[in-house]
Amino acid sequence: MVNPANPAGLLGVVLLARHGDRLEFFQDPLTYNPTQTFLTPLGSVQEFRLGGFLRNTYINPFSSHSIQGISTDLANIDQLVVRADAAGEGNVIQDSVQGLLQGLYPPTHDSNVTLANGTTIVGPLGGYQYIPIESVQPDLDISLNSFTSCPNFDQHTLGFYASNPFQQVAAQAAPFLQQLAPFLVNRSIDFTNMFKIFDFVNVQRIHNATFLHLLPPTFGQQAYGFANFHENGVFTDTSIRGIGDIAIRTILPSIFTSLTRIANSSDPLKLALNEISYKPFISLFNVTGASTVDPGIAGIVDYAAVVALEVSQPPGTSTPLVTLKFKNGTDTEFRTLSLFGTRGGVPLSSFISALAPAAVNNTQQWCTACNQTTLRGCSVFH
Ligand SMILES: *[C@@H]1O[C@H](CO)[C@@H](O)[C@H](O)[C@H]1NC(C)=O
Ligand SMILES: *[C@@H]1O[C@H](CO)[C@@H](O)[C@H](O)[C@H]1NC(C)=O
Ligand SMILES: *[C@@H]1O[C@H](CO)[C@@H](O)[C@H](O)[C@H]1NC(C)=O
Ligand SMILES: *[C@@H]1O[C@H](CO)[C@@H](O)[C@H](O)[C@H]1NC(C)=O
Ligand SMILES: *[C@@H]1O[C@H](CO)[C@@H](O)[C@H](O)[C@H]1NC(C)=O
Ligand SMILES: *[C@@H]1O[C@H](CO)[C@@H](O)[C@H](O)[C@H]1NC(C)=O
Ligand SMILES: *[C@@H]1O[C@H](CO)[C@@H](O)[C@H](O)[C@H]1NC(C)=O
Ligand SMILES: *[C@@H]1O[C@H](CO)[C@@H](O)[C@H](O)[C@H]1NC(C)=O
Ligand SMILES: *[C@@H]1O[C@H](CO)[C@@H](O)[C@H](O)[C@H]1NC(C)=O
Repeated sequence: MVNPANPAGLLGVVLLARHGDRLEFFQDPLTYNPTQTFLTPLGSVQEFRLGGFLRNTYINPFSSHSIQGISTDLANIDQLVVRADAAGEGNVIQDSVQGLLQGLYPPTHDSNVTLANGTTIVGPLGGYQYIPIESVQPDLDISLNSFTSCPNFDQHTLGFYASNPFQQVAAQAAPFLQQLAPFLVNRSIDFTNMFKIFDFVNVQRIHNATFLHLLPPTFGQQAYGFANFHENGVFTDTSIRGIGDIAIRTILPSIFTSLTRIANSSDPLKLALNEISYKPFISLFNVTGASTVDPGIAGIVDYAAVVALEVSQPPGTSTPLVTLKFKNGTDTEFRTLSLFGTRGGVPLSSFISALAPAAVNNTQQWCTACNQTTLRGCSVFH
């Protein structure tokens, strides 16, 4: 069965989703080079629930906001594109997308085949659906993880660390970090290390009962606030063409392609999902001006947070519109964010023309933007 048209005229959606709960994550404060970590069962549940939320919103035939023409129970793989960042964090992002898809298209007895001898066989686990996932390998495709091995980005990060605003907030944070130090088991309390400090506190608060009991109640939120300032400075830039926004600039081309395909009624694509880390969200909210209008979203989105770029064309209208929506991990519904100062839909053509100048369209352009001459496939251009 497929969904009929409804008054919202929703043609499809491009989604960016963050992975779920994982164990501690070490990344170098300068290069953001990652180390291994693991998705937890809680993380899988968060992703599964996110998949269920997206199913109820976009696929359930009783939703007032369902995507017209999308297959309801049996996934039609021509309608879907699924990509997941395979860089860093071990398999956290790859495993997360599996959980999300299990909630999006749960097992169904419709996933069956009738054999020549007349017997009908339902797939395993009650009709589990295997949806293809493109694993985006960082050495073959820079698009979902473009902020590592990027010397100009490292320069930008160093510049932020040397800036007055950074020094001022570092001075404000210093007394708090002194108080926090006994909980940090010898981790550096230098403010450049603020992401790791927050991540350690956050992971321990979720997984270590002793730690949760001992930590003063406001410390988690304070660490989060300082880490948000830190990461927002690293992953934004004053110009949308600045290297600080590289995390989203390399994803823009695939967003444009997916939005354009969704708006094309001859093309079957309805839902494009990108499973990623928290960094591109910060840059997306910066280049669209969304976090300038809503400063509360500037920072590290929760586990299993999701951004939706919806393409709609209400009946009787001729211009497809793009609307930016966001759901933090624990929120129960989407909120509409502002795009270039407009809260609501902007024409697809305007969306693309506003952001096209920021797009980094291929590896060669990325090598140039980063001043990278050897790694990630850049040596062939020299
Ligand atoms: C097999 O799938 C079809 C739809 O594709 C459904 O109508 C039918 O009931 C399913 N058969 C079984 C045995 O579940
Ligand atoms: C039909 O073929 C399948 C697969 O070989 C087998 O499992 C099933 O027992 C067969 N059914 C009958 C009625 O022979
Ligand atoms: C912390 O650092 C001190 C001094 O370098 C060292 O003596 C101690 O063993 C370290 N503690 C842990 C838990 O690593
Ligand atoms: C849990 O937290 C306590 C208190 O900070 C600490 O002593 C202990 O080593 C932690 N346990 C683990 C497994 O990290
Ligand atoms: C729309 O999609 C069809 C089918 O994929 C394709 O042939 C056609 O070129 C597309 N139109 C545009 C304007 O891209
Ligand atoms: C992006 O963030 C920077 C701060 O890092 C800010 O100066 C700039 O105005 C923001 N961009 C937009 C389009 O709001
Ligand atoms: C996400 O929700 C948490 C509460 O769970 C809140 O502290 C945080 O500010 C929110 N972040 C964003 C980006 O909305
Ligand atoms: C990437 O392509 C867009 C058109 O979609 C163009 O506007 C932009 O300048 C290109 N980026 C670079 C770095 O050439
Ligand atoms: C690019 O990096 C090289 C070192 O690999 C350096 O000498 C050069 O100045 C850099 N160029 C720019 C424009 O930053």
